[in-house]
Amino acid sequence: MKKTQFGLLFLMFVLVLAACGGNDSASGESDDNGGEEIQETTIKFSHVVAENTPKHQGALAMKEYIEEESDGKITVEIYPNSSLFGDQDEYQNLASNNVQFIAPDISKFVGNNPQFNVPSLPFAFDNDAAALAFWDGEKGQEIMSSLTDDGVLGLYVWPNGGKHLTNNEVKIDSPEDLEGLKFRTQGGQVLESIYNEMGAGSESIPFGELYNALDQGVVEGQENTFSNIESKKFDEVQQHLTVMNHTRVDYGLFTNTEFWDGLNEPTKEIVQAGVEEATEVAREQAKALNDEGFEIIKERGNVEITELSSEQVQEFRDYLEPIWDEYEDEIGSDVYEAVRAANDEHGDT
Ligand code: LMR
Repeated sequence: MKKTQFGLLFLMFVLVLAACGGNDSASGESDDNGGEEIQETTIKFSHVVAENTPKHQGALAMKEYIEEESDGKITVEIYPNSSLFGDQDEYQNLASNNVQFIAPDISKFVGNNPQFNVPSLPFAFDNDAAALAFWDGEKGQEIMSSLTDDGVLGLYVWPNGGKHLTNNEVKIDSPEDLEGLKFRTQGGQVLESIYNEMGAGSESIPFGELYNALDQGVVEGQENTFSNIESKKFDEVQQHLTVMNHTRVDYGLFTNTEFWDGLNEPTKEIVQAGVEEATEVAREQAKALNDEGFEIIKERGNVEITELSSEQVQEFRDYLEPIWDEYEDEIGSDVYEAVRAANDEHGDT
């Protein structure tokens, strides 16, 4: 996506924020000419994944851009691997402005707004382009703007991609194979229903605890992108991997409203451009890092890999179709309509 389009999207965010009564408390120092100087500040960006992932690459691009353009007046500290905050506490700490950027898997916010369940709807998007068209569109933007009451501003969605099933019990190539197994999920009602539908159990476990949970048999399996499976070495503690693409990891880049509104004009200009640069990099890297992750998993040879035929994928699609009806009222038929429109425009089918 071109920078001009990002610029337009940003204008939309600002308008939404203004409509929500955003509090402007910019407090930059003035120079002798009455103009404002770049504020000397430290920005913290916390996330839960490893360094060789699209999310971390986006965060790095933000750091490089902002530090260079501000001549070092702004420092960006990145905390990967849940080293500052994990799934349990990163949202609260963003709301309290203890961290200024987080980029969690959007499905972890379903407790705040059930519409964040969209990437968990079975086979919702045909590809990353369709997912991004949805999130950059009107409905997606509305959902991303729904946390302003908590002092949290949604900026952009960064894709990671389709999730795949791993487990240490059986080769999975049909819905019945999951019966009796327990899977770790990122959280949310829709993912829980997906496993229920297939006769399996589920438990939400923070990402930072997942390797040990798999290793110790707290759960038999999990679903994730190749990039996350590879970079966290989940294949060391799993025996089977089924290429599914049945649900997705999409990240929401969120900032704290008070922090954002407190930036003076020259500072915000740099931070905003840094966010746009980061978004471009994260979006570009997602597919490449997942493809690379899949190759590394194959080379390591720890898991038996099952690639489903189109008939087998269709069997999962049909099996999980009732989930869509179950959640239509809660998520909204207007949202469903926007998902379909994004697939019509950018999807494979
Ligand atoms: C997970 O919790 O499995 C992932 O969503 C983590 C992430 O941020 O990619």
